[in-house]
Parts: sequence; structure tokens; C-alpha cells
Amino acid sequence: MKMASMQISIYYLLSLFHIFTILIIPTHSQTISRIPLGSSLLASPKDDSSWKSPSGDFAIGFRYLDDQNLYLLAIWFDKIPDKTIVWHANGDNLAQERSKLELTTHGELKLTDPDGGTIWEAQSTNVSYGSMLDSGNFILADNISSSRYLWQSFDHPADTILPTQELQINEVLSSRDTRNSFSLGRYQLRLMLEGDLVLTVVSNPPGVSYEPYYRSKIADDNNTMNSGYRVVFNETGSLYVVRRNGALFNLTSQNVESWNDFYFRATLDFDGLFTLYSHPKSPRDGVNWDEAWRSVWYEPQNICSASTGDYGRGPCGFNSICSLDSNGRPSCVCLPGFKLLDSSNSYGGCKQEIVQSCDANNLGKLRENYEMRSLNNAFWPSSQNYERFPLSSEDECNRSCLGDCNCIVAVIKDGICWKKKLPLSNGRNERDTYGKALIKIPKNNNTFWDNGLEKVNNDEKDQSKLVLVLSILFGSSLVLNFVLIAASSIAIFVSYQKNKKLNTSSSLLETNLRVFTFEELKEATNGFREELGRGAFGTVYKGVITNSFSGSRSIVAIKKLEILAEEGDKEFKTEASVIAKTHHKNLVRLVGFCEEGPNRLLVYEFMSNGTLASFVFGISKPDWNKRLQIAIGIGRGIAYLHEECTTQIIHCDIKPQNILLDESFTARISDFGLAKLLMSDQTQTNTMIRGTKGYVAPEWFRSKPVTAKVDVYSYGVLLLEIVCCRKNVKVESEKEEEIILTDWAYDCYKGRKLERLIENDDEARTDMKRVERVVMVAMWCIQEDPSLRPSMKKVVQMLEGVIEISLPPCPSPFISM
Ligand SMILES: *[C@@H]1O[C@H](CO)[C@@H](O)[C@H](O)[C@H]1NC(C)=O
Ligand SMILES: *[C@@H]1O[C@H](CO)[C@@H](O)[C@H](O)[C@H]1NC(C)=O
Repeated sequence: MKMASMQISIYYLLSLFHIFTILIIPTHSQTISRIPLGSSLLASPKDDSSWKSPSGDFAIGFRYLDDQNLYLLAIWFDKIPDKTIVWHANGDNLAQERSKLELTTHGELKLTDPDGGTIWEAQSTNVSYGSMLDSGNFILADNISSSRYLWQSFDHPADTILPTQELQINEVLSSRDTRNSFSLGRYQLRLMLEGDLVLTVVSNPPGVSYEPYYRSKIADDNNTMNSGYRVVFNETGSLYVVRRNGALFNLTSQNVESWNDFYFRATLDFDGLFTLYSHPKSPRDGVNWDEAWRSVWYEPQNICSASTGDYGRGPCGFNSICSLDSNGRPSCVCLPGFKLLDSSNSYGGCKQEIVQSCDANNLGKLRENYEMRSLNNAFWPSSQNYERFPLSSEDECNRSCLGDCNCIVAVIKDGICWKKKLPLSNGRNERDTYGKALIKIPKNNNTFWDNGLEKVNNDEKDQSKLVLVLSILFGSSLVLNFVLIAASSIAIFVSYQKNKKLNTSSSLLETNLRVFTFEELKEATNGFREELGRGAFGTVYKGVITNSFSGSRSIVAIKKLEILAEEGDKEFKTEASVIAKTHHKNLVRLVGFCEEGPNRLLVYEFMSNGTLASFVFGISKPDWNKRLQIAIGIGRGIAYLHEECTTQIIHCDIKPQNILLDESFTARISDFGLAKLLMSDQTQTNTMIRGTKGYVAPEWFRSKPVTAKVDVYSYGVLLLEIVCCRKNVKVESEKEEEIILTDWAYDCYKGRKLERLIENDDEARTDMKRVERVVMVAMWCIQEDPSLRPSMKKVVQMLEGVIEISLPPCPSPFISM
């Protein structure tokens, strides 16, 4: 006890000492454009003036929030289309039109409403001028003491810090409330006095911070000098904590190559993730300029399972279930029988649609009016129970909850039935929890559940995209086309609902897959007439599916599987459901399946531009930038399969024939998930080699376990093929050294003769820097030692230039050339 309080006072002394150093201006000089006293900005639709930094990178001024018809005083990135806001002053007290930001002649910075009332002011006096700096820091300074600022926005961060900005002990970043609302949100980032960087949820109304859901684990009780006391975001985009003894604790692990070409920001997002983002400073290929902020690093890795405290509502609010989406973000769904408190905010929690009453006249009718639904893998670690009893059968729990007017949710776990108290908090959907939730809902409730749950994650971004698509479609002759698509999706939806009623026990039905009969598919393909291709797993036919309900038609690719593992049946369903749960723009989507007698068929969406093989190995060389974009897309798709799916998927057969191109030439990986489906044991060493000659990683031939790194190897080969527009093995080659592409490419790289790889490719030849980068990445991917190969996520970051690429060693060091 005594020890602890002594430690705390040491911390205080150290922090006090530190306060004197805070306001010292960084020594390197910056160009400054002074905003003289008496300057002002007006909140008005007619006036979008702002005070810009000398480089034009940042601006301070008013931002109009159209959903509220009010103005926010903010600092933003001014040169990029997104105009991303990095600081704001009055999120909880927005300004009306004709409000004014003024640097008064008395040297005060004030935001006043049209009647002259103060909305916000910077706490400082005797200011001589203001300035928007190129770092994104807005400062107030005087003429006398040139060595310090009187006020700076960097000392009053909102939800974001920028390179060169620091956070001191107890300084806080607070998230905003929702994506578009700047009022105070629920999450806080703070460097604690004990030296740990933590993320916490704050109570509602704000006041108390609950148990952290992320901790950097820097604090050292035995050695205070080893604890952190300052968070630094340095110019080159690295985030670290400086310990009292001067040592650094890196938060982000990667260094960014060509950091000068990127903007960075680290934001405590409204969904609770502390994320480091990068954004190219100028448009570049392979990056969609409109959504070019890329997450380089974030914590916590799994926010759904990170929050374990007894208080607070979890990332999704009460009575909902959290699962991670492909970007590590929480995705929220209400429990069946519940709906969103605020229909525009999927993170705000849910309420019961119909509240069950314990009135005498309802009591007798519970069994008549309600039914139980089960939900696998739902889990509430911190919710309380009001009853608990051991079970002799599952049905006992079911019946007990159904007849209990207080029971809405019960959980069966380890042979025990737990009746839950409402509201349920921190609900999450985890594959490996074997608990099963039972939920009581009113009968004839016709809500539709995706994943066995009501899907409510209404992403604003996607909606705006949809609106855009709609307007484009309606503005063109494609209207008919659209109606067709819409009709067919409704058809799939309806048929899914129908199927759900037939068989509610299958896990497949948690996904919106359509179940086809063999007869239907035979008809769809006109008796399996038009063959699209033939692969290791079976033959692919073109087909047209018609829905008997709506009469709509759509083109599909139907894969008739030829080989099946012995325990096929159960496997087929589980794997199909795994495939069905993948959602990524670089993967081919599974529409449905058929499982009838010995027949196993998978129905995919149809890709109109054929395979990557015919695209790159065709007669004319396709555009270099297009090729690069495709390469990055494939990388992202594989990275998703490896790292972002609930169940890791190793493709095992990455090659140009398995990459398809959709109507906009976006790369879409096909045949994933099948390797596992058709192979009894992934790690078994002497099973039949699954991949294709030329793309197969060396460990397939050795007594080494097969891991996700086999895909990295194949991807490396594919990258070289995309660069050179030739196949890995070219038997007819005149020059012997060119027969095997991987060897030849390394020789060219080593001998600094990369241009030989891209003869007759003028476009690529003017872009040697990137050619070299791609070849270097490929060299890392095809390392013989799997542990030397980078992860796919890293591969993508290297290709995008977000992280540095070190010099690759010789791919096969043991084989003498
Ligand atoms: C500060 O210095 C500038 C230029 O030297 C001058 O124009 C301005 O009036 C001074 N401001 C104050 C408040 O003294
Ligand atoms: C930023 O921090 C990283 C990691 O500590 C370091 O490698 C890099 O050199 C630093 N950059 C500058 C400009 O200090």
C-alpha cells in the first residue's frame, strides 16, 4: 500500500517535470502564414473560406453537417476528396448558420453564435497571431516569446492524433458518437499515470471509465522508470510510447516505405478501434481515391471479445450480438425478436419488439403465442443469470423458458440451463464457443435472419453507394438489367426463407444459400451442355437459373464435383457454409448448392471476363496498371481467406486459371474452400499433392506441414507471371535460362537486368521502380523456407508501398545453380 502510493507520487513528480517541457516549440522551423488579429470566418453556405496551412495540406474552418443543418468548427485534410476531419471544437454544441470564428483584436480565439453568445473559445489571452501549420496543428502565439505557443490544437485533441503530435499522461482521445455525428462517443484512449496506454468504455452519462478493453502492457510496477509517459506519433508514421528511461515501446510494428508520399492519422474510431490510417498524398493506381484511407494497424484485434467487464454495453449495445467483419470492425445484429433502439445506428443496441407480459391472461397462453428459436455460438460472458439448473435434455431448457414469462433468453452450456437477465450485454458470436442460446419470440414473427440472426448492420457508406448505383442505372438503358438483378435477389431471399422452414437444424441455413435440386440444375444447364472449364474438382457449366416464384433469370456457373472425401456428407455442408460466409470483393460468390444422392454441385455467380490466364497469356499484353491492380486484388482476396475469415481458408491451388475477372475486370478468386472440402487432412504430408505443377510450394514434396504459406508461394509465381505476361514454365523457350520463370526472374533481379523481364512492354518499362517492387515481393513469396515468406497481409502492404521491402535472399539457397 505504502509502496504503491510512493510510486504514484514519483509518477506525479515526473509528470510535473514533464509539464514544463510540453509547450516548447519543436526546434525545426516551419513556414508559417500568420492570421492577424481581427480575422474571422463565417458559417455560411455562401462562404466556404477557411484558413489553410502554407502547403495547403490542412485547413481550419466551418464544416456544414447536412443531416443536422448546423456547422462544426474543424481542422481537416484539405487536399484529398474525403476532406477528413482530424480535429473539432464543438461536436456537442454545433453552430448555427452565421456563427463566427474570430481572432479578436484583443487576442482571443472565439466561436460565437449569431447573437454573439460564445459557443467555444481557446483558453488563452494576449495572442498576437494565429496560424494553421503544415502538421495539422492550429496555434496561437505572441510576438514576444518565440519559443512557445500560447495555445495549440495538438494539446486539445478530439478523436485523432497526427504525425508529430504527442499525448501526455492523462491526455485523452475521445471517439465521436457515430460515423457522422461528432458528439462525444463512448470510447476513450488514455495514457494512464501508471504508464499503460488503455482503451476504455465510458459510462453513460459520461463520467466513469470502465475496465479497459485494451491495454498496451507497458506499465512496470517493479520499475517505474520503465513505464510509459508519452505517446509519440512520429513524422514517419510510427506510433510508440516513450518510457521514462527514454526507451521506446513500439505500438505499430512496421515502417512505412516512402512515408513522404502518405498522409497518416491515428483515430479512435466511433466503433472503438484505435486505428492508424495511411492515405496516398496523390492519386495512384490500384487505389480507389475516394476510399483511400487504409488501416495500417489497429487495436484491439478482436473488439467483440475484448470487452469482458461487468458494466457497459459492449461494442454493439445491449441485446445484440457482435461479430467481426472482414476489416476487424464490429458488426452488430439484434437478437431475434428485438429491433434497433435507433434505426439509423446499428451500434446503439436493441429493444424487444413485443414485450412479454406476466399478466394472468397471458400466462396461460405463453406456449400458444410464443416459440423458441436456437442460436449457435452466441455468448454473453458478462450478463447475469437469474436461474440455473442442470439438464437431462435440451428440451427441458426450451420448455422451461417458454413457460416462464420472465424468460426471453436461456443458454445451454456444459449440461446446464442458464436463464438470462435482460438487458444482455457484450453479446458475441464466436465459432469456438459451444454454448447454445435459446430465444423466445412471438409466433408468426416473420423477421428474416441472416446467420440465424437478424442482420441490422446498416453501413451508411454502402447505402450511399447503392443510391449511386441506382441513379446510374436509372439514368441509363440498364434499368431492365437492374430490375432483373433485383428480382433475382428477391427470389433467392424468398427461396431461402422457404427452405428455412423445411429444415431448421442445418448450419447451412444460417447463411442465405439457395438449395437446388439436381433436376433444377440439369434444366438450368440444359442437360450440362455448355462447358466453361474443367478443374481438379470437377467440370464447370454455364447455366441460367429461373425462379419459379418471380420468373426472374440470372446466369450462373455450376460446378459439378467429381471427387468426394469419404465422410463427404457432413463435410460438404459445413464447408459449403464456410464458403458461403466469405464476403469479399475479390472472391467469387457462392449462390447455392445441390446435394442429392451422389451428386454434389456448387452454384456460383458468373464471371463475364473469363480467367486471368486468358487475360495475361493472351495475344496482346494487357495494360500494366490494370495488371498491377489485378495482382493487388488477388493478394487482398487471399489475405482475406487467410486472416479475416472466421475459419481460415487455405486455397492450395492459386493459379491464373483459378482467378476470374468480372465485368469490371476485378480479380475474383474461385475454387477456394474446396481443398479442405475434398481432402481429409490438411496437414497430412503424403496425401496427393493438391496444387498444380509449377505453382506448388516445395514443402508439398517434403515431410513438412502444409500451411497458408503454400498460397503465398503460388501467389509469388503468379505475380511474376502477371509482370512478365508469360507462364512459369516455357518449354519452347530458345534460351535455356529463361525456361523456368522463377529462376530467370531471380537472375535478372540479381544481375540488375529487370528490364529483360518486360521486353516489349513500354508501359511497364517507364515504371521500373514499381516493377522492381513487385519482383522483390515475388522473390519473398517464393522463398523455399516457408517461414521466410511474408504473410499475405504483409505482401499486400508491400505491394501498396505501405511498408518497406527488404532485400530478398536467393529463393532456394540450398540448390546450387
Ligand atoms: C506582432 O508583430 C507583427 C509584425 O512584426 C505586427 O504587425 C503586429 O502588430 C504585432 N502584434 C502585436 C499584438 O503586437
Ligand atoms: C519513427 O519511429 C520509428 C520507430 O521507432 C523509427 O524507426 C523512425 O526512424 C522514426 N522516425 C523519425 C523521423 O524519427
